[in-house]
Amino acid sequence: MTEPTFRCCIVHKSADGRVSREFGRRSIHDLPPGDVLVRVRYSSLNYKDAMAASGHPGIVRTFPHIPGIDAVGIVESSTDSRFRVGDSVIATGHELGVERWGGWAAYVRVPADWLVPLPEGLTLEESMILGTAGFTAAQCVKALLFHGAAPQNGEVIVSGATGGVGSIAVMLLAKLGFRVAAVTGKEVMHSWLKEIGANEVLGREALQEQKTRHLLSAKYVAGIDTVGGPTLTTMLKMVSYRGCVACCGVAGGAEFNGTVYPFILRGITLCGIDSAWCPDDQRAELWTRLAGEWKPADLQSAKRLVPLAEIDSYITAILAGQNVGRVVIDLE
Ligand SMILES: NC(=O)c1ccc[n+]([C@@H]2O[C@H](COP(=O)([O-])OP(=O)(O)OC[C@H]3O[C@@H](n4cnc5c(N)ncnc54)[C@H](OP(=O)(O)O)[C@@H]3O)[C@@H](O)[C@H]2O)c1
Repeated sequence: MTEPTFRCCIVHKSADGRVSREFGRRSIHDLPPGDVLVRVRYSSLNYKDAMAASGHPGIVRTFPHIPGIDAVGIVESSTDSRFRVGDSVIATGHELGVERWGGWAAYVRVPADWLVPLPEGLTLEESMILGTAGFTAAQCVKALLFHGAAPQNGEVIVSGATGGVGSIAVMLLAKLGFRVAAVTGKEVMHSWLKEIGANEVLGREALQEQKTRHLLSAKYVAGIDTVGGPTLTTMLKMVSYRGCVACCGVAGGAEFNGTVYPFILRGITLCGIDSAWCPDDQRAELWTRLAGEWKPADLQSAKRLVPLAEIDSYITAILAGQNVGRVVIDLE
């Protein structure tokens, strides 16, 4: 009898260090051991996936590798009593698509603890329009609320606003009634950012202060930074007394050359965000919110649906800082 096989994107690294991608098939038996076998319906493209798909040594250490830090699909078999055949489940983060073969495949096998039941209120496709990017944006918003941000107190600034995390952050904040200042390097996307909820749109130079002033005019009640480097340093100088900046990304650089003045003169909180190892109870709670009172009105406007075999040009674009919104990968 022939073994069942499934479609996937496989990243190879040759002995001389060359990385290549293959759109091929693998046997179900090649999947790593785990409690739950999921037939994947959709995955997505995050910045980390593009790095994995390029064989970045900081992300992938073992080859051949299947990228995909996100997957949603239907349980095909389970040895864990929490999940039954036919259940719709979401897998994001943990080691998926990094240490373990990920969602750019028609099947994944994962530990049951990594799964969240698809909450009522989200379709399979909507869950991947959100994906890790949306989940990360939700963690950022939760941090700002926890630290006292409220719509009546002022505007929130979001960097990398056309990207996956940034655009969903703009949508979530708008849904919660915040005024949002969206910062982008893409002039042609200003009107789209307003359509998805931004009140004002600023060029990247707004967060690239070159002078050495310790503080700037406190225009914003809080911020979400997906870019890092001087963008984060500048954002911290522009947030008002007792405000909070949620820091989640490195799209523009990993260094941090700030002073302590925003912290000791304005009492600013810098809140680090990690989506991969978010505790299970908080993960489930945030997905429930994303399916309910936080669900953006027009998620579809952030989506491009792409077959797995056509993902190459989107990988190139996201690595060049040219991504807009969310790329959902269709695995059927
Ligand atoms: N902490 C976590 O758990 C977590 C989870 C998800 C993502 N992330 C990180 O968050 C960042 C965003 O992820 P993503 O999936 O949303 O990526 P993305 O879709 O590529 O969005 C990044 C956006 O940042 C802006 N940007 C790119 N290069 C820039 C540069 N050199 N200077 C200033 N702005 C630049 C661009 O937006 P504009 O053109 O609109 O400026 C770009 O679209 C990445 O660094 C990713 O690794 C972290």
